[in-house]
Amino acid sequence: MAYAVTLLPGDGIGPEVIGAAVKVLESTGVEFEWDEHVAGMTAFESGGDPLPQAVLASIDQTRLALKGPLTTPVGTGFRSVNVRIRQHFDTFANVRPAQSLPNTRARFDGLDLLLYRENTEGLYAGIEYFDERNQIADSIARVTRRGSERILRFAIEDAVSRGRKRITLVHKANILKLSSGMFLEIGREIAKDYPAIEFDDRIVDNMAMQLVIQPERYDCIVTTNLFGDILSDLMSGLVGGLGVTGAANIGDDCAIFEAVHGSAPDIAGQGIANPTAVIRSGAMLLRHVGESAAAIAIEEALYAVYAEGTHLTSDLGGSSSTSQFTNQLVSHINASVIA
Ligand code: NAI
Ligand code: MG
Repeated sequence: MAYAVTLLPGDGIGPEVIGAAVKVLESTGVEFEWDEHVAGMTAFESGGDPLPQAVLASIDQTRLALKGPLTTPVGTGFRSVNVRIRQHFDTFANVRPAQSLPNTRARFDGLDLLLYRENTEGLYAGIEYFDERNQIADSIARVTRRGSERILRFAIEDAVSRGRKRITLVHKANILKLSSGMFLEIGREIAKDYPAIEFDDRIVDNMAMQLVIQPERYDCIVTTNLFGDILSDLMSGLVGGLGVTGAANIGDDCAIFEAVHGSAPDIAGQGIANPTAVIRSGAMLLRHVGESAAAIAIEEALYAVYAEGTHLTSDLGGSSSTSQFTNQLVSHINASVIA
């Protein structure tokens, strides 16, 4: 059986890294039926709509997508299509692992952190007002009990199911007493149902500092939308940068896989982007649909290529192109499939 998956190559380096990920996913022998569509700046420039109806219709059918990064204009212009897709399909849990690979020049080794970011509300709820006359801008951080309960329960249950030992709720409840305060209170309530995992909390600014100094002391993190966005980039930095961290947007009946990184306009079109992040997202997709053996084959081959260190991309100090790296990875996967 072939898996029907919506494929959104995206903007900037998107088509380069998604092309690599498709090649790697197909090399495992698992079959896919890709339903490819444009979205983001590319779609806006060609058809005037950054989120064409066809994209929503496709994901409505497949309930499964692999997406490249989408450019969002800064300040003015259309609203983030990423945020709109997450809200439309109610993929409330954004799961972002940060696992070390060899030879990345990262400052730390052996890290295996896992961040769960609330993905549909908080400061990204899209509730913004501008009082033209008085020049006052408001962005509302909407936190709901329902939204908090479902991400917190998802995160704690998922962490337990992975055999993780500890989960830290990150907040700013000392200042944001209502929104962050409720999130913390609900987290403490729900954690009582799961004595198998240690639960604690940190204030976000302290957490940022702790992660930079002693990340090995942490395990899983669960937090609201904005803090999760920022801390997940920080965690990417701990394991080698944005080129290496994948992510999953998970809802009750829909899952969308993408890298943590954006469209990287500074290196787009040069064939030098690191596809590892999207490839790891692809491995998460495989695990999600139950193709664990294929996911493991990709993860082991990635580890082997990094351990060799001869085919790394320039973000990690190597001199290989996106396709040289990808071909090396595929040859490892082929060898393991044959072995
Ligand atoms: P970015 O993540 O695109 O790039 C930040 C830095 O990391 C750049 O120096 C870039 O070259 C490098 N980088 C990122 N991915 C890389 C890769 N795979 N290989 C090698 N180097 C890589 O963040 P930036 O520049 O802040 O955002 C650019 C655009 O992407 C913006 O329009 C933003 O809105 C959008 N964006 C989209 C996301 C998504 O679609 N999920 C997520 C984050 C940003
Ligand atoms: Mg981000």
